Amino acid sequence: MTAPARAFEHDGIAFGCDYNPEQWTPEIWDEDIALMTEAKVDLVAINIFGWSHIEPRPGEYDFDRLDDVIGRLHAAGIRVNLGTGTASPPAWLTRRHPEILPMVVDGTRRYPGGRQAFCPSSRIFRDAALQLVEQVARRYGDHPAVELWHISNELGCHNALCYCDESAAAFRVWLRERYSDIDALNAAWGTAFWSQTYREWDEILPPLATLSLGNPGHMLDFHRFSSDQLLDYYRAEADVIRPLSDRPLTTNFMVTAHIENLDYWSWAPDMDIVANDHYLDNRLADPTSELAFAADLSRGLGGGAPWILMEHSTGAVNWQPLNVPKAPGQILRNSLTHVARGADGVCFFQWRASVQGAEKFHSAMLPHAGTDSAVWREVVELGGIVERISEIAGSRVDADVALVFSWEAWWATQSLSRPSQFVGYLDQVHACYAAAHALGLTVDVVRPGADLSGYALVLVPGLHLVRAEEAAVIADRVADGATALVTFFSGTVDAEDRVWTGGYTGPFRDLLGVQIEEFAPVAAGQTVTLDDGSRASLWSERGHATTAEVVASFADGPSAGSPAVTRNAHGHGAAWYLSTQLEPSAYRDLIARLASEAGVTSPVAIHDGEVSALELVRRRGAEASYLFAINHGTASATLGATGDELVTGVAVHGSLEVPAGSVRIVREEAAA
Ligand code: GAL
Repeated sequence: MTAPARAFEHDGIAFGCDYNPEQWTPEIWDEDIALMTEAKVDLVAINIFGWSHIEPRPGEYDFDRLDDVIGRLHAAGIRVNLGTGTASPPAWLTRRHPEILPMVVDGTRRYPGGRQAFCPSSRIFRDAALQLVEQVARRYGDHPAVELWHISNELGCHNALCYCDESAAAFRVWLRERYSDIDALNAAWGTAFWSQTYREWDEILPPLATLSLGNPGHMLDFHRFSSDQLLDYYRAEADVIRPLSDRPLTTNFMVTAHIENLDYWSWAPDMDIVANDHYLDNRLADPTSELAFAADLSRGLGGGAPWILMEHSTGAVNWQPLNVPKAPGQILRNSLTHVARGADGVCFFQWRASVQGAEKFHSAMLPHAGTDSAVWREVVELGGIVERISEIAGSRVDADVALVFSWEAWWATQSLSRPSQFVGYLDQVHACYAAAHALGLTVDVVRPGADLSGYALVLVPGLHLVRAEEAAVIADRVADGATALVTFFSGTVDAEDRVWTGGYTGPFRDLLGVQIEEFAPVAAGQTVTLDDGSRASLWSERGHATTAEVVASFADGPSAGSPAVTRNAHGHGAAWYLSTQLEPSAYRDLIARLASEAGVTSPVAIHDGEVSALELVRRRGAEASYLFAINHGTASATLGATGDELVTGVAVHGSLEVPAGSVRIVREEAAA
């Protein structure tokens, strides 16, 4: 609001963690700081869940221990990423004001005892939190140790959708601003159906649990509202801090599998630097590729600028059904994949493994086993590498492929009344990204409507909700010479979740040169065959080509004879359409064909080795470029590269060996 935002300025690439000293004694703090120094930790997030410690009773503040911890970190030269402390309300607040507790979709409240037990629209919560933020900002706003503000924590992780009366009132205010006129709202939500027409604003509730299917337009707007509401809360904390501190502000996003509630495209401009938390999800088909996607999306949120990995894990988490440790070398591979993809900071949750509380089985940099452990040794090794590659900070990732990603499309796709409950938006995005990733292509993830002029290949997986103008940007880029791939269920509804009529793919129809008449989803466990021999699953479509060339058709299944893969020449480029989910190898072959047509390749020649086992990315700085080569496979690989290899400190002349499981980073002599 007042002071100009300062960019995050760290000496090199930050290496750090969440630190919860409240759980430990001052003797342990000293040991912690000595070990942090050994591991070269230089950025520590504290006071994230500090509220009940620093405000033990209403209006009574006690900063002694926090002063002490910050002072000790500062004395050791460790910078502080200072939490505002508001992530979880203290028990005195929820006891005095149970009305701040969040309400879930069935109308029941959720109680304290976990975390984030507050309604994002609660005025009482907000007032109490902002009073705390002001105290914290006044006390530490100019402290020399403070490098970054960490507002709340993973806003909306648990409480994004609140259905209480106060949320309902805030929702109505938001709706009045959006529509002004209740008839416009009725038109947008299609309330003519099932006698849902509203005459008064006060008749509108959040989309609480219903007996039958609810109204999808209502739900879509509730998602938009809920995302905006938490962003408004972020801004309220930021507005308190800015006049009191010139340090940059951020909060940790959750660009990770399965968390869908916040539209970070609208949040990112408020961040002085984008920060993300990422946890490998071992329930996914390809967690390594999903990690790369999340990193690319984090970079995309900042428009390509460096970002911070605020949290990831050294090993098992505690919240998946099966929580497994990382394989030897995987901490390095995972961390340096984030750096390869633009992170200028690598931090972990958390420093020292808790011995009590809900996360006592969550991994940490310093595990329960202590320093005589493989995890600790790998953490120390990583700290050394991060220090050695400090010159990479500030450089930018090279990419000539764009993937269009949309939270609104995600929300609209997941509607309860879709053709197949087995089709998930993120699954489609991951499958498409994984095919490009397996080919070593570097992908920028962009929002719908973003300028695509630098990209030779544009991927548009499952973009179910799209505005005409967003589709036009893609068509224009194709007309200018790019190759695009649009996949099934794209272009089905507009921004109000209203079906585009005249043939599915709506605003993409002319670009694609196909007429899709009916969706014919494929049952779980069944496959269909295309006439080129490839197999597919999940989905098929009935229709015909208008101007497109049919590259492959369904040979069997519910859409036998209809086109499955088409290519339509458009201006100087071509638009491909895929109306099913290809098996991974066929998907990869398709993307390889498009990449070859578009003239995009992986950033380096592979002399020996399997590209799908390699993570290959180039970051380009003012003075040099840096080639990252991460070998996830079990066999050594050899690449064409020349320069200084920064992990081993060895010069490379034309040929770089990347042993199985290892990471190599080459400062290239000439701009490649
Ligand atoms: C994040 C959170 C951390 C910790 C971590 C465990 O969601 O910000 O506080 O709970 O997950 O994986």
